[in-house]
Amino acid sequence: MISFNPASKTFKLDTPNTSYVFAVGKEFGHLVHYYYGPKVSDDNLSYLSLQDPNATQAWVEREKLSYVDCVSFEYPTGGTGDFRTTAMEVETQEGYSVLELKYDSHEIYKGKRKLSGLPATFAGEDECQSLDVILKDDILGLKVVLTYSVFENLDAITRSVKVINEGKAIYLTKVMSTCLDLYNEDFEVLKLCGTWARERRMERYPLAHGYQGISSKRGISSHQENPFIALVSPNTTQTQGQVYAMNLVYSGNFDADIYRNQFDYARMTMGINPYKFKWKLETNASFEAPEAVMVYSAEGLGKMTRTFHDLYRKHLIRSPYKNMKRPILINNWEATYFDFNTEKLLDIAREASKVGIEMLVMDDGWFGDRNDDNKALGDWIVNEKKLPGGLKYLVDEVNKLGLKFGIWMEPEMICPDSDLYRAHPDWAIAVPGRVAGKSRNQYVLDLTRSEVMEHTWNSIKAVVDSANIEYVKWDMNRPLADIASLGLDNDRQGEFFHRYVMAVYELQGRLVSSYPNLLLENCSGGGGRFDPGMLYFSPQIWCSDDTDAVERLRIQEGTALVYPLSSMGAHVSDCPNHILGRVTPFETRGHVALAGTFGYELDITKISKEDRDEIPKQVEMYHKYNDLVREGDYYRLASFADNNEYDCWMVKAKDESEILVTFVSVMNRPNMKPLTIKLQGLDASRKYKDLESGMVYTGDMLMYAGIRESRIWGDYKSKLIHLVEVK
Ligand code: DGJ
Repeated sequence: MISFNPASKTFKLDTPNTSYVFAVGKEFGHLVHYYYGPKVSDDNLSYLSLQDPNATQAWVEREKLSYVDCVSFEYPTGGTGDFRTTAMEVETQEGYSVLELKYDSHEIYKGKRKLSGLPATFAGEDECQSLDVILKDDILGLKVVLTYSVFENLDAITRSVKVINEGKAIYLTKVMSTCLDLYNEDFEVLKLCGTWARERRMERYPLAHGYQGISSKRGISSHQENPFIALVSPNTTQTQGQVYAMNLVYSGNFDADIYRNQFDYARMTMGINPYKFKWKLETNASFEAPEAVMVYSAEGLGKMTRTFHDLYRKHLIRSPYKNMKRPILINNWEATYFDFNTEKLLDIAREASKVGIEMLVMDDGWFGDRNDDNKALGDWIVNEKKLPGGLKYLVDEVNKLGLKFGIWMEPEMICPDSDLYRAHPDWAIAVPGRVAGKSRNQYVLDLTRSEVMEHTWNSIKAVVDSANIEYVKWDMNRPLADIASLGLDNDRQGEFFHRYVMAVYELQGRLVSSYPNLLLENCSGGGGRFDPGMLYFSPQIWCSDDTDAVERLRIQEGTALVYPLSSMGAHVSDCPNHILGRVTPFETRGHVALAGTFGYELDITKISKEDRDEIPKQVEMYHKYNDLVREGDYYRLASFADNNEYDCWMVKAKDESEILVTFVSVMNRPNMKPLTIKLQGLDASRKYKDLESGMVYTGDMLMYAGIRESRIWGDYKSKLIHLVEVK
């Protein structure tokens, strides 16, 4: 899968359908990028490296600066005349910033090495092959290792970067994880943007000259920006067109930049955001940048999506739950907010146990003096006024009802009105001498300090050890600002953002390795940290605080563009919806939540009898379809965001034996033509039976003629179509 041609010094990385080719440039020993795209049989591609149409070899000899600004580089650096966006920049103690990396050596090996302290994809020796290319700047004594991995049966390439300092202490001011110089085929940019309660909406526009992209400076990957970017050829759809996509396995400040240059080539880079990043690298010290995933599809967005889903399900999510049906949970947040006690929770659990719900999750408000969102974060001691007998009593009682128990925590936070803050005001992130800004009346703990980290770990551990807790919802409700750490020297303050993310990874790593059977769900004010870094620790992430079924269509469509359905936290909540006031049918809410982890977020003791009676049917539906939804191949068939009428997706079993189509009629109009739902990705000759109508279709009928659906009377109605293979 990975080969090296010693005569031309060319590297070729082949996946089942793609080739990625680069070489050691003849001119100056830089790594020069040749090609990424559909599989090619030869590596003789050096003619592709110069972007200037007038460039000649003779010209290159006398015009190094112009050469450097027009060659396709594999890992471009700053200071020597490449005026496009760069992948790496440094600052020496003298204040100089020239860095020139030249090929030194390489190694091709089976399997994949771990990144220290960072989440990353993993694979066994028989599933994956990797390449380390070692580059050096001899003047600075800096060594840079570019690592690439390719996986069996997947059109994905992962990349990461390690910097080793063999010279004098130096500052790294930019270390991107990947870079890709591309011949621009009139590309459009695709990204996922949003806000709180409206996360990950797809946005697409033509690639303009100059810099553009998506980045976060909030200390978290964020609601507003997701660490995903793609270039797509014009008219790309779910089933056709070229897609070059990147996704960063990281949960903090990231930057995904695309620069269109004077020759109309595009350079994509992705990595830690250089904003406020300055990392001091002492002699013999090293720095590892997070892993980036690159996916190429020549068959539109759908193929890209399924590559990401397969890669993440098999090679990124570690939890033993990844291949298991998750317990159907009921969370009390929208049911009670802060107003609950043992009795109320047991009432909910009692009713829940009667309808097949399997776990009660107690959300915010169970600890310290927390009766609203103004205080007590950091005081992780149970509030016995609300929960007499403590967690142990409550959990035992819930367990007696046959339900598991899960708990909410927000371990990274500290409220100014908390015992923890009164004891350790300096543990909150703040610049000495300045009053730091609050958000939701809370500060963020400086987890980069070991005493703060150890205290936080002990608090989490004490809670989890105090009762039979089988699930933790790890929340994080504000961005980072007022950055400073009392634990870092002045010339290391620029390391704060990354050190913070590493500390969160350390805590979550300890949690999942100390409690291997614990189900961890990440959350950040809804979906503010829905990224591959978090997926490494938790098999599911709360998608959004917006549980309205119609809004969820777009949120889940954008999320599922990259992240597997098995990871999307989705619940049925009560109506009118608490965020929008919209009323949707209970059944539709169930069908939409079925595309994710599935659960409830309502007061089951108060909802109408009619809705309550629906729950056992929904529970049955979940048990019937969850294996298929969690493990199958996802195809987006229609988007309400595009057609303003209806949404439709399907999941096909890996062995193609069954298909589940979900159809949501959002806006109905009179006298419209019947709807035709055309399925995708089927074997034309297989036959499928619609179990409800009894109709038998061949695969080609389903793909080309489609299923005829009459309009469903009423807005927001939905329907499942279950097709089972018949021989
Ligand atoms: C934000 C989360 O997204 C909600 O589900 C809930 O847990 C609240 N925080 C609690 O404060």
